[in-house]
Amino acid sequence: MAAPVFDPISDQRLSDLRKRLGDTGWMELLEKAREQESIILALRTKTEAGSSLTRAVSEEGLDVSVPTIRRWIKRYEEKGLAGLMTRPGRTPEGHPDPIPSPSKRRTRKPRSFIKWAGSKASVLDEILAGFPRKFGCYYEPMAGSATVFFALKPKRAVLCDSNEELMNSFRVLRDHPEPLIALLEEQPNTSRHFYETRALEPSTLSPLRRAVRFIYLNKTCFNGMYRVNSKGRFNVPYGRIAHARICDEYTLRWTSEALRGTRLHTGDYRDAVADAGPGDLVYFDPPYLRPEASNPGSRLYQPDEFDHGAQGELARIFRELVERGCHVTASNSDHPLVRELYDGFEIKVLDVRRPINRNAKGRAGHKEVLIMGSRERPAERQLRLL
Ligand SMILES: C[S@@+](CC[C@H](N)C(=O)[O-])C[C@H]1O[C@@H](n2cnc3c(N)ncnc32)[C@H](O)[C@@H]1O
Repeated sequence: MAAPVFDPISDQRLSDLRKRLGDTGWMELLEKAREQESIILALRTKTEAGSSLTRAVSEEGLDVSVPTIRRWIKRYEEKGLAGLMTRPGRTPEGHPDPIPSPSKRRTRKPRSFIKWAGSKASVLDEILAGFPRKFGCYYEPMAGSATVFFALKPKRAVLCDSNEELMNSFRVLRDHPEPLIALLEEQPNTSRHFYETRALEPSTLSPLRRAVRFIYLNKTCFNGMYRVNSKGRFNVPYGRIAHARICDEYTLRWTSEALRGTRLHTGDYRDAVADAGPGDLVYFDPPYLRPEASNPGSRLYQPDEFDHGAQGELARIFRELVERGCHVTASNSDHPLVRELYDGFEIKVLDVRRPINRNAKGRAGHKEVLIMGSRERPAERQLRLL
């Protein structure tokens, strides 16, 4: 194994990377590279003493696959520590390419970097068809995986969700995609690592490590669900997904670019839309009223409920925004209370497939409604939609 060729601290070729990531992100990458270097050196001692690489990896008790270790060694031999800080898919100078040219297979827009209950992937076309062609700022104040935002890719936008883990991941992905990708790439898909990661208390982690934990759990847990117990602890079991895409670099970089310039808000939807004004577009996708329950609300996202009272308050805000001159659209279940709350607005019924459901039968055949509110008169609207 050749000696390291250059040192990352003094290497000019990494100065752009450092500028882009900022000192904190860059130091995290360097720290990770140093960890990998110490593993490589420990394995080198063993292989030079006659052990095979596979045996040496198993003796060291490493949770990293042998092909991954081989890639590390190759990069380390070529560029030393700096080789461990940059990876393939980079510019010729070795700097990270924020958006590598998509291969022929990957020309479509990615939908979202996470799986989320209530994702709008199956009804995107209907939702987008109801939006005006021109609008000011786009607001998605109950964003979840923000499928509609990513399909629209607006120039100006505000995304909000009350889920702190989710919004932290959006923020880290927007501002520090490279260290996030580097750390996700190293996460093994094993039950042991899953439960160790799940046991970490998010509030004790740096925003970067917290985002890694959230995305990793989302990709490897059962059905990509987000569920917390009464103490607010994530409690979904390991999913045993053989080919989980923990680190989809293309989607992560594309998403990071799409989020650039977007205002991110963690908290209540009412605060997020406080400054929405005439011509802005607001899309609400709340936890739905469950059609079968008498006083339902969803516990799937947060321990606090989104019950009848909360649905009524949302409908009030919906009306207020329309009166302010915003174009407002909301999704909800086709429930008599929903129809009553939005009486007077245009309501369209959609047949929806729900991908996150315990059994496959429950994934098909639900009715949802799309409520559309705007000062535009219905006749003008009909003409525009033709
Ligand atoms: C049906 S999901 C949204 C799914 C999203 N449209 C997608 O494509 O993934 C509803 C979201 O509302 C969020 N939420 C619940 N109560 C909220 C509140 N008061 N303010 C903001 N977000 C809230 C939940 O955390 C959840 O992510």
